[in-house]
Amino acid sequence: MIRVITYGTYDLLHYGHVRLLKRAKALGDYLIVGVTADTFDRERGKINVQQSLIERIEAVRATGLADEIIIEEYEGQKIDDIKRYNVDIFTVGSDWKGKFDYLKDYCKVIYLNRTEGVSSTELRTETRLLRLGLVGESPILNKIERESHFVNGWEICGVYSQNSSSLDNKLRKLSGYSRTFEDLLEKVDAIYLISAPREHYKFIKIALEKGKHILCESPITMEVNQWKELKKIAFRRRTILMDSIKTAYSVAYYRLLLLAKSNIIGDIVSVDATCTSLSDFSVFDTNNQNMTEWNSICSWGPTALLPIFQLLGTNYLSKNITTHLMDNQKDFDLFTKISFVYPHAVASMKVGRGVKSEGELVISGTKGYIYVPAPWWKTDYFEVRYENSSENKRYFYQLEGEGIRYELLSFLKSILQKRDFSYISDRISVSIVKVIEDYESRIDTTLI
Ligand code: CTP
Repeated sequence: MIRVITYGTYDLLHYGHVRLLKRAKALGDYLIVGVTADTFDRERGKINVQQSLIERIEAVRATGLADEIIIEEYEGQKIDDIKRYNVDIFTVGSDWKGKFDYLKDYCKVIYLNRTEGVSSTELRTETRLLRLGLVGESPILNKIERESHFVNGWEICGVYSQNSSSLDNKLRKLSGYSRTFEDLLEKVDAIYLISAPREHYKFIKIALEKGKHILCESPITMEVNQWKELKKIAFRRRTILMDSIKTAYSVAYYRLLLLAKSNIIGDIVSVDATCTSLSDFSVFDTNNQNMTEWNSICSWGPTALLPIFQLLGTNYLSKNITTHLMDNQKDFDLFTKISFVYPHAVASMKVGRGVKSEGELVISGTKGYIYVPAPWWKTDYFEVRYENSSENKRYFYQLEGEGIRYELLSFLKSILQKRDFSYISDRISVSIVKVIEDYESRIDTTLI
């Protein structure tokens, strides 16, 4: 009996897939089909597969062509499978030509002609692309543009920037076509916003009233009342208003949260997060609102507060803010530390654009602790450590695009499915604004 094996994602099963499976089956007597697991696809950079693993398996099963279906979960698994299932022929479409020649050491390798004119990628984008506009004055916009190409469904259609010096050529050219914010809104379905934080409110209000969806660099506003007003408008207009904190979407950080919540270090008693990045104050332009308003607490506060609020909740008993301001620019904090007290835990965050420190995250529990080395906010690695160090465990997860592509994917899904797919709850979003508002009004705050 000749045993044949083939692999694929089989998302939105189409005619090309069926033709391939038929020809694969005809090569032998018994066909094994390997369907890729969601995590494996993500590691390979296929991030917006639309159907779940179960749905994809069911679709392959329904063709009646597979004698056996297996799941492909890790790189290198094909060699294992070929040995384990006693495979004689490995086959795959010609788009992979040459890529699997290394399997010739284990069985025969046959590349079958790919069917022209159909692919899952095309089917995924068959529905109209959503038009995204970029707003603000930050080099982060360049990253958003680059990362948008990894998510089928977005098309960058315009840029509105009051100062385009930090934009690369492509975006600078696009920004030339939208002289006003309203001009840009005419061309897009949604915007990514990173203006000076005090300006967020104004931009968001205009955009929401025009029915546009918004992904906004956190904090969404500087005042809780403004936040509430905007969320009400978003609800009324049925539009999405989402916080952007890319760390929330980084795979390692997300997995770490799940582990910490599943009692792996016992009860969590302390969360300590530090985020610093020294600014170049020689180019500090006091006329550039974006530069002066993205002070330490606005730039880093939302990220540093994220693990605290996600692990301990937002119902802290008290907080103490200690801040050190710039001499000639009193709105700009060079360094800020906030300590929180919870009923059964404590937390601290330290942020600085004028002070440098070790950017680590430590989550302490009654059985052990989680250590994330600097820069923890874009980590691909963390450790769970115990009293007995032989029990320590290290975890690695590839960090693609600093989390931005997953964030853009969640934003897209929220718009298309009219459901909230944000990893940052409203409660956390508004609690971040509250902390910044208190800092601004010097509530619970000591100046040093
Ligand atoms: N395939 C094919 N003809 C097509 C599309 C796919 O023969 N038009 C084959 C692939 O070569 C592979 C198998 O079907 O052997 C599964 O492919 P998969 O990657 O799941 O499908 P694609 O449509 O290529 O998906 P994507 O667009 O996401 O790359």
